[in-house]
Amino acid sequence: MVSSTPWSLSWPPERNGPYTPSVPFPQRRLRRLRRTPALRELVAETRLSPVDLVAPLFVREGIDSPVEVSSLPGVHQHTLDSLRQEVAQLVDLGIKGVVLFGVPERRDAEGSGCWAPDGIVQRALRQLRDDHGEDVVAIADLCVDEYTDHGHCGIVGPDGSVDNDATLELYRRGAVAQADAGADLVAPSGMMDGQVAAIRAALDEAGHPTTGILAYAAKYASSLYGPFRDAVDVSIVDGGDRKGYQQDPRNGREALAEVAEDVSEGADIVMVKPALAYLDVISAVRAAVDVPVAAYHVSGEYAMVHAAAQRGWIDGDAVMVEHVTAIRRAGADLVLTYAARHLAERLQ
Ligand code: PBG
Repeated sequence: MVSSTPWSLSWPPERNGPYTPSVPFPQRRLRRLRRTPALRELVAETRLSPVDLVAPLFVREGIDSPVEVSSLPGVHQHTLDSLRQEVAQLVDLGIKGVVLFGVPERRDAEGSGCWAPDGIVQRALRQLRDDHGEDVVAIADLCVDEYTDHGHCGIVGPDGSVDNDATLELYRRGAVAQADAGADLVAPSGMMDGQVAAIRAALDEAGHPTTGILAYAAKYASSLYGPFRDAVDVSIVDGGDRKGYQQDPRNGREALAEVAEDVSEGADIVMVKPALAYLDVISAVRAAVDVPVAAYHVSGEYAMVHAAAQRGWIDGDAVMVEHVTAIRRAGADLVLTYAARHLAERLQ
C-alpha cells in the first residue's frame, strides 16, 4: 500500500492509502469545502450554463397569435412571427440551440408536411437562418408523427404496424427538406432501425455533407410525453402506442446497442430520452461513446414540476435547477428542456 498523505482529498481514500489525521477534528474533513458559497462554487463538479441548454419550440400553421400549451406553462405554439421574437430573446440570453417542431394545418397518411418545401418547419428554418445566420444552431426534429393523420411515426402497414423500411424513405425526404431550409442538425426521433444511415446517405447525396445528425438514439416508449402531444395536437389512432418502435423502459443494455448502431451509422450526437428516469442510461452512454451526449428533459418531467409548484408543494425553480443539473451530472453534455429560457434568465 502507498504511504498515507493526510492532506489528500482523493476518494476513495484507498487510492492514496488510509487517511490518518495528525490533528483532531477529522470529522470536519468532508465539510471543509462546503463552508462558504465561494468555496462551494470553486469546487462544484457540475456547472449549468445557458450554452448547455437547447430550447424545444413549437411553430403552428394557421394561427394569428401564439397559443400557450395548457399542460406546459410558459411554452407556446408559435406563429412564425412570435417564434422569431422568442428565438431572438433566447439568443440574447446565451442559448445556442433550438429544436423546432411543427404543427401543420392538414395531416395525411404519409405526413407530407414533414418534407414539403413550404412546410411550417421549413419556413421557420429559413426565417431563423435569415435572422441569425450562424449565431444559432437550428435543429429540426425529424419525424412524421406531427404530420400524419394516424399519429404514428411512419407508414402504417395493413397489419397496423409501422413499416420500417418504407418509413425510412419519408425520413430521407424530411432530412433533405430540412437541410435545404437551413437546418444545422436534423434530429431523427422515430426510432426506425437504420434511420441514421438512411438519413446520412440522403443528406450526402443531396449535397449536404455538413448537415449533422443528432440522433434520438435511446428513446423510450415513455408515459412522460403526454403534454408534448397536447403541444403538437397529436393523438395516436385507435388508442395506439409506440411500443413497437420505441424502447421498453425495462431495458438498459438495449440502449447501448441502439447508441452503438447510431454512432456506427454516422450520428454526430446521440440522445437519451426521457432524462430523469433514465440517468443510469445517460451515464452508461457517456461512458460508452466519445461523441457528445444529449438528454431530453421531456414535457412530462417539466409539467410535473410546474404542477407541484403551483400547489405550493415544492419550490419549482429550485427543483428545475436541481433536475437539469442532475441530468448534466449523469453525463449529458446538452440538455433539451422546456425550462431553457427560464433557467438562462436565472443564470445571467
Ligand atoms: C416524436 C417526438 C415526441 C417527443 C419528441 N419527438 C413524441 C413521441 O415520441 O410520442 C416528445 C417530447 C416531449 O415529451 O417533450 N416526434
